Amino acid sequence: MEDIFGPGLLKGRVALVTGGGTGIGLSTATLLSTLGAHVVLAGRREDVVRDAADNIVAQGNAASSVQLDVRDYEQVAATIAGIVKDQGGLDILVNNAAGNFRCATEELSPNGWRTVVDIDLHGTFNCTRAAFDALSASPYTGRVVSIITSYGWSGWPGCAPAAAAKAGIQSLMRTLAVEWGDRNILCNSVAPGAIGDTEGAKRIHDDVGRGDHELSRVPVGRYGERDDIAAAVAYLVSPAGRYVNGTDLVVDGGRQFSFGTA
Ligand code: HXC
Ligand code: NAP
Repeated sequence: MEDIFGPGLLKGRVALVTGGGTGIGLSTATLLSTLGAHVVLAGRREDVVRDAADNIVAQGNAASSVQLDVRDYEQVAATIAGIVKDQGGLDILVNNAAGNFRCATEELSPNGWRTVVDIDLHGTFNCTRAAFDALSASPYTGRVVSIITSYGWSGWPGCAPAAAAKAGIQSLMRTLAVEWGDRNILCNSVAPGAIGDTEGAKRIHDDVGRGDHELSRVPVGRYGERDDIAAAVAYLVSPAGRYVNGTDLVVDGGRQFSFGTA
């Protein structure tokens, strides 16, 4: 992907990627770093984010890591203050951290519901709210990109809390696109379809025997790749995305329209 975008496209930027140690977040952090950004990878497992950041540095790019639970606003605020102190600012926030599992709603406990909504929706609010001052001061125009899913607007049988949380995030990005449009911050969402080699597709589709069914609903006939999502984020945070605000960039091979009999 770094061959598609110009080298140095994101030179000088500082980016925070939540859940940056694994999956889509890791691919996104890696791509942003190859394009010149200093990337801060955040997640609950300190060793996971540290090893991931070390790998990026070993490739000759700039990265660091921080242990963070996005559910804790004080921790989030301290993390962002630390990034501003150490790196001189924050230009890009990628709200990627999420939790999800399949569970029929009549069997779901209130704490199960709360846990997913807390990580996805409240975590996204915490990071976005805490990053406001730094993003607003960015010389590149601050960018927020939140990772959602089209199941947020279609509904998602078996994953009710994730569907509700992702719909909430989509709404938050649209609201902030308007509130913060004249505050030097652009807010958008990226909605991946089923992406191969991820924990998400594994636990939601493949491990429960739904992989073939899901694949049959994807018009282009294959799962997406983690880099497909990284590329969408790179576009939105680059100068090419400077007039894109409040949109949902769906990257799913056409899956969201695949409800008919075709
Ligand atoms: C029912 C469950 C459950 C399950 C947990 N719970 N797993 N209920 N079925 N499979 C319930 C617990 O019983 C508990 O409620 C409550 O949820 C909190 O569980 P904890 O284990 O204490 O939570 P925590 O340690 O905070 O872990 C959060 C987690 C976990 C979401 C439960 O799975 C996690 O850390 N996930 C992060 C990685 C992840 O999910 N990646 C996939 C993202 S994919 P009680 O009532 O018992 O106290 C995604 C979209 C995928 O977002 C799209 C695919 C196409
Ligand atoms: P993943 O590898 O499990 O990514 C989730 C990341 O979030 C992990 O690195 C995890 O690290 C971190 N995380 C979870 N809870 C956290 C918390 N409370 N605080 C901080 N970090 C936390 O799964 P993925 O499949 O790549 O998913 C990435 C994103 O894409 C998610 O937003 C997901 O909803 C979205 N998505 C994925 C797909 C797909 O097909 N995979 C489709 C649509 C949307 P720790 O456990 O170390 O904290």
